[in-house]
Amino acid sequence: MNSLRISGGRRLLGRVKAPGAKNSCLKLLALSAMASDTCTLTNVPEITDVHTMCQLLESLGASTAKRPGGVIEVDPKGIGPLEPPEDLVRRMRASVQILGPMLAKQGYVRMAFPGGCPIGSRPIDLHLKGLAAMGVRFTEEHGHICGRVDQLQGTDIHLDFPSVGATENLMAAACLAKGVTTIRNAAREPEIIDQQNFLVRMGAQIRGAGTDTIRVVGVEALGATTYPVMPDRIQAGTYMLAAAVTRGDVTVTDMVPEHVDALVAKLAEVGAAVIVSEDSVRVVMGDRPGPASIKSMPYPGFPTDLQAPFAALLATGRGTSTVTENVFTSRFRYVDELVRMGAQITVDGRTAVIRGVPKLTGARVVAPDLRGGAALVLAALMADGESVIDEIEHVARGYDGLVERLTALGADVRIEEGLELAVSG
Ligand code: EPZ
Repeated sequence: MNSLRISGGRRLLGRVKAPGAKNSCLKLLALSAMASDTCTLTNVPEITDVHTMCQLLESLGASTAKRPGGVIEVDPKGIGPLEPPEDLVRRMRASVQILGPMLAKQGYVRMAFPGGCPIGSRPIDLHLKGLAAMGVRFTEEHGHICGRVDQLQGTDIHLDFPSVGATENLMAAACLAKGVTTIRNAAREPEIIDQQNFLVRMGAQIRGAGTDTIRVVGVEALGATTYPVMPDRIQAGTYMLAAAVTRGDVTVTDMVPEHVDALVAKLAEVGAAVIVSEDSVRVVMGDRPGPASIKSMPYPGFPTDLQAPFAALLATGRGTSTVTENVFTSRFRYVDELVRMGAQITVDGRTAVIRGVPKLTGARVVAPDLRGGAALVLAALMADGESVIDEIEHVARGYDGLVERLTALGADVRIEEGLELAVSG
């Protein structure tokens, strides 16, 4: 495991480009499995989860090729009824996104239950219920799930919760189903719109992504296409928060400002100057933030993936703030680590109460998961003295060129490989 060493206290200044979106790219890669020929994705982020998804597709018989400049080609012609290795599937939650495409393409899938960040119970019942309504017969044995279907049938599906992953899997399967599928109470995240745009370019007939009702008319086959992955709103938001946390002045470019409306509103509320342009957002912060109440919600609410990074900002705010997590059951594992750095935070059920302190102090901490790790990076950037963040691999799963980007903004950050934890007692 590698660590990140950060000397805190430097204001971040300058411009940073938002990379392609992890949570869209992984799904677009999985959807490429449904094409009749090679699909090409551009603006692909350089992150470990993308590598894992390519390995997963290869284990199913596809060929993938990485080209310079963030380009990946997926040739799905060799895909067959193979089972991906369990260790790959368990490495990330997005593995579950092969369910819909594989059932649509070959009427068969067998895989282990997916893994992912330890942020609470992450069932896949909504995926399975929706696919079963389309005619899939599932069996579960020894931690594996096996699905079979002769011909997917279009149907009406009402999701109990607007799950992002379930919406995406069902939308994918519906593209090659017979007849019309309507998904109600669908997730409205921008990544769903990206998926619709990609599938439409492949010849699918879908409308409604971005609203709570998606209608898909099944087609016989999907063709090849070339498609640019949308910008990553969570990475963009993290750099906006890095500006605020370090009382800096950062412009995040090549992003879609509308995707971070909820964050812009909260940053303005706590006293940041936020200047929104057509495809960039500038955040300037001169003083400690004011208190705020954050409640994570499905899009367009405040994103759960920025809950921890925003808490890092509020840790040195004035007064008392609250952060409530409404999407996942256990997304406060970073709190104990922030407390090691001098934060005053208590957690009661789904809510963290943050009593702002004037300063955090550098400490050795462990990244508990992807976004919790990002929160610790932000805290370390502002803390007095040096911090070491262990198990930084969690963060590398979702942040493209983090060290280079932060360094370009003036941070003192470096990776240390295989640093041993000093354990005593
Ligand atoms: C996606 O996860 C993202 N992951 C998450 O990002 C993100 O936090 C989340 O959407 C919400 O925006 C990927 O895109 C790979 P959900 P997903 O299905 O699809 C419950 C990150 O850090 N649920 O909308 O897994 C579930 O337990 C990650 O980048 C069921 O009960 O999210 C959770 O409480 C973390 N049954 C809630 O719904 C199901 O069948 C939301 O999950 C499915 C979900």
